[in-house]
Amino acid sequence: MKLWGGRFEKQTAKEVDDFHSSIHFDYRLYKQDILGSIAHAQMLGKQSIISKEEAEKIVSGLEEILQDIEKGKVKFSISNEDIHMNIEKILIQKIGDVGKKLHTGRSRNDQVALDVRMYTKEKIDQITSLLLNLEKTLVGLAQEHILTIMPGYTHLQKAQPITLSHHLMAYFEMFRRDIERLRDCKKRVDSMPLGSGALAATTYPLDRNWVAKELGFSSITRNSLDAVSDRDFIIEFISCCSIIMMHLSRFCEELIIWASHEFQFVEMDDAYSTGSSIMPQKKNPDVAELIRGKTGRVYGNLITILTVMKSLPLAYNKDMQEDKEALFDSIDTVIKCVDIFTQMIKSTSFNKEKMYEQASKGFTNATDAADYLVKKGLPFRSAHEVVGKLVIYCIKEDKSLLDLSLDEYRKFSPIFEEDIFHAISLETCVNNRNIPGGPAPSSMKTAIEEASNWLDKLDEIKI
Ligand code: ARG
Repeated sequence: MKLWGGRFEKQTAKEVDDFHSSIHFDYRLYKQDILGSIAHAQMLGKQSIISKEEAEKIVSGLEEILQDIEKGKVKFSISNEDIHMNIEKILIQKIGDVGKKLHTGRSRNDQVALDVRMYTKEKIDQITSLLLNLEKTLVGLAQEHILTIMPGYTHLQKAQPITLSHHLMAYFEMFRRDIERLRDCKKRVDSMPLGSGALAATTYPLDRNWVAKELGFSSITRNSLDAVSDRDFIIEFISCCSIIMMHLSRFCEELIIWASHEFQFVEMDDAYSTGSSIMPQKKNPDVAELIRGKTGRVYGNLITILTVMKSLPLAYNKDMQEDKEALFDSIDTVIKCVDIFTQMIKSTSFNKEKMYEQASKGFTNATDAADYLVKKGLPFRSAHEVVGKLVIYCIKEDKSLLDLSLDEYRKFSPIFEEDIFHAISLETCVNNRNIPGGPAPSSMKTAIEEASNWLDKLDEIKI
């Protein structure tokens, strides 16, 4: 018989058992479910709602079930619907009628909210530490490439020279925000819902704060109706995941472009590339492409959960069981993608010569040529026009600004002097952009130092 079968005269249809059961995906909450039940049972004993002996029996039964599951000895059944009722049923089979006391003062509605919060908290920590690994890798690479000059782009057209260090640290900033967002999101996940019951709390004198402390929560939820119907924390978390994936997808896109024959800025390691079944010469950046592609799944999951929650009346509705696959898939995807991306970027080799060569083409120093004239007294708009004309001249002559002679410069403005060549060398262009936030090696040194301190501090907090 079903645990809720008392009021029913007929069995559920077979198709319904299959349709509404969630065990095939929520089995992964077994640890949280058991730890939550252990804390609940201990509290029931402590509050004399059940006897101390009964509580002890329940706790040791649950501990055995946890071990059995971990040894692969437990088979869950669809007719017991979900992880909560599967475990309760096994407990009753194991310890007899005393097991039937576990669910006193509790509903699956607050139980599932508890389990999912515990699980999400754990996964936030795991994703955060993977992101920290990625950040450390980026800082290491940025350090190595402080002097590597490359073209910076806008509209994917060459714009101004920067350092590879600067480019890599731009991603560092994005992932820093992701880590901060996750830590902030965790504050709202970290609230203990047991005691909310089905919707209207309970008449038993439960010690909610004791349970919260026991389970490592920093607060208890404030309204029972809200606590059982709130999935905001999942929406927030999948939003964080979506932003992480968006960042990864941008980085992957750049690596894919950079690995092309047209760019040749990077060589992806063989271990992170794949070949073609027909074209023998091919080496494709499939891993980067797949991460870019998987971004779509996580965005999809966000829309799923937002749509599931839209217009739901208070409090719990079965629709909410649909939250889990979206949550679990987002977690699995982000964990895999951040981890493999970190390995991939570690093994990528950067072609400094190609980057330098490309930075010296496409007039990336044109702004600096205009700034040179400004320093000599010309208003910026006029300087812009002079250099614009110089650029057309260079295009016609198939030359770069550094290829011109001083005589050629003087045809466009008599202000030009011999020092123009120093003023527009790529090194000068980059070195002079040395205010905080800029790409100059001196600015990057400070930025990397600040980043390393931030990382050390987070390591100390031990997320
Ligand atoms: N499996 C359910 C879920 O994931 C657990 C809560 C069920 N509660 C209920 N009243 N049917 O949402």
